[in-house]
Amino acid sequence: MRLELAGRAVLVTGAASGIGLACARAFLAEGARVAMLDRVPVPVLDGLVVQADVTDESQVVDAIASVVARFGGLDVVVGCAGVSGPVGTPLVETSAADIAKVLAVNVTGQLLVAKHAVPHLPVGGSIVLLASDSAFVSAPGMVPYCASKGAVVALTSALAVELDGIRVNCVCPSIVDTPMARADLGDHVIDEADFPVLAADEVAAHVLYLASPVSRSINGQAVLADFGVSARSGFPA
Ligand SMILES: NC(=O)c1ccc[n+]([C@@H]2O[C@H](COP(=O)([O-])OP(=O)(O)OC[C@H]3O[C@@H](n4cnc5c(N)ncnc54)[C@H](O)[C@@H]3O)[C@@H](O)[C@H]2O)c1
Repeated sequence: MRLELAGRAVLVTGAASGIGLACARAFLAEGARVAMLDRVPVPVLDGLVVQADVTDESQVVDAIASVVARFGGLDVVVGCAGVSGPVGTPLVETSAADIAKVLAVNVTGQLLVAKHAVPHLPVGGSIVLLASDSAFVSAPGMVPYCASKGAVVALTSALAVELDGIRVNCVCPSIVDTPMARADLGDHVIDEADFPVLAADEVAAHVLYLASPVSRSINGQAVLADFGVSARSGFPA
């Protein structure tokens, strides 16, 4: 399938690691012009690197201005920057500061990047955000993270309705083999998993499809990439 992404100006947040890095590589492989934004140094690829914290509005403004100055505009924005927070900690033992941090990065960060990127996106532009299956299902000890990803699903549809001619969708993967998942679960859980685990490249493929004009009818959607796990009812059959 031709994704028609060659030459497109793409901004990927959270591009130093995991899914964001896989997305940056995949867009570059399609011939796109890629700006990689992260708060930590980004591995050297062929794209433009911008260091910024997505929770700091002035840093987001400066970062997007520098990308637009280089590319002359933007066609695609991919929001991968995210944190998992104190996974495994019950809410009653979670500090207000930890709750605020998860919401600041995962929700406010996505909103700030969208707010300042939208004026530079043309009709036909596309925003793809990383939510999670945690917007829909949960395990104990993930309340702030689940709340933050539920908010990403809601802001995705709200933004799609508000914007004229710019599509907004999010991808909601189950567990993806990235530094975040390994830090939260431990290497052995990922390496010996008896449940399906996504590769970051597979998530990137979903992101590129949603970013591409070939998916032009898909707007305001949360694409659940969980191998059908959440589709199963409790009915004993
Ligand atoms: N790994 C999974 O199992 C999984 C599953 C579903 C959804 N997700 C989501 O996918 C996205 C990417 O996760 P990942 O697994 O690749 O994690 P990761 O930790 O490997 O990468 C996240 C990147 O975001 C960056 N980042 C964090 N806070 C930032 C900030 N304030 N400003 C700028 N950059 C910041 C980090 O520096 C890092 O490079 C996240 O939103 C995550 O919640 C991950």
